[in-house]
Amino acid sequence: MSSIAEIFETMEYGPAPESASLADRWLDERDRTMKLFVAGEWREPRSGEHFETTNPANGKPLARLAQAGPRDVEDAVGAARAALAGWRAMGGHARARYLYALARQLQKHSRLFAVLESLDNGKPIRESRDIDIPLAARHFYHHAGWAQLMEAELPGAVPVGVVGQIIPWNFPLLMLSWKIAPALAMGNTVVLKPAEFTSLTALLFADVCREVGLPPGVVNVVTGDGRTGALVVEHPGVDKIAFTGSTEVGRIIRIATAGSGKKLSLELGGKSPFVVFEDADLDSVVEGVVDAIWFNQGQVCCAGSRILAQEGIADRLVAKLRARMETLRVGDPLDKAVDIGAINSPQQLQKIQELVRQGQDEGATLWQPSWSCPQEGCFFPPSLFTDVSPSSVVAQEEIFGPVVVLMTFRTPGEAVELANNTRYGLAASVWTESVNLALDIAPKLVAGTVWINCTNVFDAASGFGGYRESGFGREGGREGLWEYVKPGWQEKKRGQGTGDRGQPATATATENDAAPESESAAAVVPAGPPPIDRTAKLYVGGKQARPDSGYSLPVRGAGGRPLGEVGRGNRKDVRNAVEAAHKAAKWARQTAHNRAQVLFYVAENLAARGEEFARRLAQGSGDEAAAAREVDDAIRRLYTWAAWADKYDGLVHQTPFRNVTLAMNEPLGVLGIVCPDEAPLLGFVSLVAPAVAVGNTVVAVPSERFPLAATDFYQVLDTSDVPGGVVNIVTGLRGELAATLASHDDVDGVWYFGTAEGSTEVERLSAGNMKRTWVDYGRGRDWSAAEQGEGREFLRQATQVKNIWVPYGE
Ligand code: NAI
Ligand code: MG
Repeated sequence: MSSIAEIFETMEYGPAPESASLADRWLDERDRTMKLFVAGEWREPRSGEHFETTNPANGKPLARLAQAGPRDVEDAVGAARAALAGWRAMGGHARARYLYALARQLQKHSRLFAVLESLDNGKPIRESRDIDIPLAARHFYHHAGWAQLMEAELPGAVPVGVVGQIIPWNFPLLMLSWKIAPALAMGNTVVLKPAEFTSLTALLFADVCREVGLPPGVVNVVTGDGRTGALVVEHPGVDKIAFTGSTEVGRIIRIATAGSGKKLSLELGGKSPFVVFEDADLDSVVEGVVDAIWFNQGQVCCAGSRILAQEGIADRLVAKLRARMETLRVGDPLDKAVDIGAINSPQQLQKIQELVRQGQDEGATLWQPSWSCPQEGCFFPPSLFTDVSPSSVVAQEEIFGPVVVLMTFRTPGEAVELANNTRYGLAASVWTESVNLALDIAPKLVAGTVWINCTNVFDAASGFGGYRESGFGREGGREGLWEYVKPGWQEKKRGQGTGDRGQPATATATENDAAPESESAAAVVPAGPPPIDRTAKLYVGGKQARPDSGYSLPVRGAGGRPLGEVGRGNRKDVRNAVEAAHKAAKWARQTAHNRAQVLFYVAENLAARGEEFARRLAQGSGDEAAAAREVDDAIRRLYTWAAWADKYDGLVHQTPFRNVTLAMNEPLGVLGIVCPDEAPLLGFVSLVAPAVAVGNTVVAVPSERFPLAATDFYQVLDTSDVPGGVVNIVTGLRGELAATLASHDDVDGVWYFGTAEGSTEVERLSAGNMKRTWVDYGRGRDWSAAEQGEGREFLRQATQVKNIWVPYGE
């Protein structure tokens, strides 16, 4: 025992351990052998397989977990399906009561949850107790509210159906809540697969579901490793997959679900910049770095793992950081005075060690504190790399450990360039005392979340999710709800029950080099004299362009009459069009009012040539009345999108901690739009107009069967002040062009309204850069119906939400 005087002398912390006894009792009561939670009951795995989960702080086993096999997943999906109709039909208020009850139970058992989480994951009890568990409860409260408001606030929306949810090990219960709360609120049922390293709190949560009397099958928990995850992903009875984890597995899931009609949201890796300007408050910055990279041992998808410091303060910042690193305490996660706990697994520790070694080999300078970590268990000290080159492995790869790299910049422009020099786009933080500078930089950062003078703060009211290879979809906030609903008309249209996804496409054949999709009546003998008037060219960068191939395709009208020819665009034409679309990017920075004006003008000019367009369409379909209606509808639709251009407002979320959060709708960038055959003019207008209304630039592939309405349209664009490159038109074989767009790394999103096979191909090929896709699996829609041909769905598909956390109030 040291005397009080000695303690004052050394100021050493004594151990302040949190007791593990309750958690141990919970495990012992279950003989430390866990079952699967299916249909509201605990079941032995039919696979008969188990594996061990350990405490990473001491390497000791905690429990045996069931490895769910095919029959187990089958049972779980079946139970979720069986529960769906009842859960949906009970309505928002009843669901709100259940979610509220779950939130209350999480709070009432918060200490047990926190201790179990720290034991299984290795994170410090201070974090599980003060951050993970309270935020998880907050998520259920917040979404109890959304369940209550669903009918009023999301009119016409229906649940997606049975949702498969796969989560990682870094925030086990918090990620569970991000997944389950919105899904249940919107009337879906769930099969959750926790990470194999950290399944215990999910099983405790299942206990809580039983306690509150959640109807059996609404939540099912199947434990197991990636094989179980893959079974959930591939199960045909699942209507949506929500995944958080590595970009690598996200890509596998994108490819595995391509063409299945499963809705998909992916929250993937990151290499988030932490930008420090010269005028920043450096003491706050240092604490910010602690939160950015030493929170949760740096095992945070949005960890601020790249410090970008302005040259004038870089040395001072490094000195301060080194001093602060010296005072951090690494050790027993259950010790209340520990800052940094254990790395989650030996595998993860090894990965961190390897990457750090690589950083040293690359010539970077490694700073670590003088003290050493506990030898037993998975520990790694806080680490800082300086002298890092922007292209080095440690500056580009997600390390997912307590390791940060520091690079310098001179000007704000350079800071933005460095910040965006990554394939990821999950988060960023900006540190400066100048509100002008911060709000000038925020829109330029390619990231789903931007924190100003704060970092790693989360709240259920704010959406969270990525740009680029960090994935798509949002969790939290109003924007997160859209991941768990679909338009009601889709269901009505097919006249089937809930959870309908249409026919999964089985064919994998591409349309490449095949005959034109529409088999354009090539065999039909033309009647009457051939009124071939001209060959429509492509439209690229505001100019007509001949197709690179030098080939043309015939266009035939009603009865197979040849009407003209269009250029057969190829890969090179698409590349040129994409380049032109990129050059026109300043369209996004025009005022919304300007974009609205331009669209009204397009409508005006289409109206002026309405009869000509109607004649043109009638040549194709032989139905004059329908042609006139289509032109009329197209003019109306242009008005709709002109109207929306300056009204698709973002939101201001009420997040805590002296912040408000600006949820800004930003365009995706360059969109490839492959238009439907039905309604050649209206389909084209319905898709291209909303995309450009919100600031995207577009490469459009018109209807393959009858492209002439779209190629005529470029004359309307030319006369309507649409800047060159904002809308580019490439005619040709739709499947071939769609595949080129979907695999193009400089295209940010592809919309495809064509065949089921083409939809599959687009989704599969999009995995290259994880671009956003919107396809219709060959279902078609009635473009003249407002419910199907316009509305917020189009705007949501054309944008991604950036949440900017701004200091506000006291
Ligand atoms: P992971 O992506 O393999 O695991 C995440 C979840 O996906 C787990 O539940 C796992 O069982 C499941 N899974 C694995 N393969 C699957 C498949 N083929 N189909 C369906 N589900 C599958 O991540 P892991 O292996 O745990 O960590 C590897 C690296 O990934 C880490 O070092 C880190 O860099 C990164 N990572 C990033 C996370 C993030 O939130 N951004 C979270 C976890 C890991
Ligand atoms: Mg574990």
